[in-house]
Amino acid sequence: MIMAPPLPRQPLVFDVSILQHQASIPSHFIWPDHEKPCLESPELAIPPVDFGSFLAGDPLAVSKATQLVNEACRKHGFFLVVNHGVDSKLIAKAHEYMNMFFGKQLSEKQRAQRKIGEQYGYASSFTGRFSSKLPWKETLSLRYCADNQSSDIVQEYFSNVMGENFKQFGTVYQEYCEAMNTLSLGIMELLGASLGVGREYFRDFFEGNDSIMRLNYYPPCQKPDLTLGTGPHCDPTSLTILHQDHVGGLQVFVDEKWHSVRPDPEAFVVNIGDTFMALSNGIFKSCLHRAVVNNVTVRKSLAFFLCPKLDKVVKPPNTLIDSKNPRAEESEIIAADNASAVKEGLGSSCRVLGRKRQQKNRNKRPAL
Ligand code: OGA
Ligand code: NI
Repeated sequence: MIMAPPLPRQPLVFDVSILQHQASIPSHFIWPDHEKPCLESPELAIPPVDFGSFLAGDPLAVSKATQLVNEACRKHGFFLVVNHGVDSKLIAKAHEYMNMFFGKQLSEKQRAQRKIGEQYGYASSFTGRFSSKLPWKETLSLRYCADNQSSDIVQEYFSNVMGENFKQFGTVYQEYCEAMNTLSLGIMELLGASLGVGREYFRDFFEGNDSIMRLNYYPPCQKPDLTLGTGPHCDPTSLTILHQDHVGGLQVFVDEKWHSVRPDPEAFVVNIGDTFMALSNGIFKSCLHRAVVNNVTVRKSLAFFLCPKLDKVVKPPNTLIDSKNPRAEESEIIAADNASAVKEGLGSSCRVLGRKRQQKNRNKRPAL
């Protein structure tokens, strides 16, 4: 009997203009039953923290803010920041330019294609790999550095990789990243005050940070109950500042259950990542979370992942080490080694620090 030669395996392309006209979704996007989303989940009660009043130094506001943050971060590491001082017009522009970017033809977006093993650029679920449990989303990841030599890094990326026509995109996201840098250093003051190590300690540690800005674009999906926009993960980085639009889809795993985080365009959702968990000697938690999609509308989120400058050593201050919280592990981690572990998809080496006190159930899939 003559056998037909095997068909060449075509890489799957996540091109929404094609996928959205199909009655079902390709099996690569279907998640196993125990990981399928629950679209109706209880809301997570996360405290809104009045950031402006904290910065202004009003003693009552400072004590309230540090208490709320302390409680939330010991439990699950998520809180909301309101009265944050970031211009709402800048946030609106950052969303508007996401619509423009992701609305472009696939071939154009692929000018910024993120290559396998790389951390920055455009990625959709296909990336040429045959894989299961693919997320239903497209992303654009940008490098942001807060040192003086890199003051135009985002701007230059768009001009160099996408061309001069994309200059305005560069201007918008450069400005947005600068606002996130300022906000994240302020939040570091809040975390330092909440942990009792003083406002300057973590703020100084993250001066000159080497961070990641990620635009998450979740197209509507005809089978939202079978797939996930972002699978369950803990952020391997230090701190995430997320702005979700009005649609909603973020879920956090707390008390053995998935909880949703109600969208509030006036607020930023802040969460502790593995690296900060290590810096806090495991006292503040990095918690499992994911994003679900829907069959009606696009959902967008802007995620700024704060990461230390690459020459920093990640280890908790001595004042956070005592008999109640012994040092989780002797090894110190150089931020550069952690960054390459994250980049190569190995997850964060910071996870070894504080592991004993980490929740069970964390998924090994790296977030980045
Ligand atoms: C992430 C993430 C959640 C969201 O990008 O790491 O968890 O709501 N995103 O987009
Ligand atoms: Ni995340």
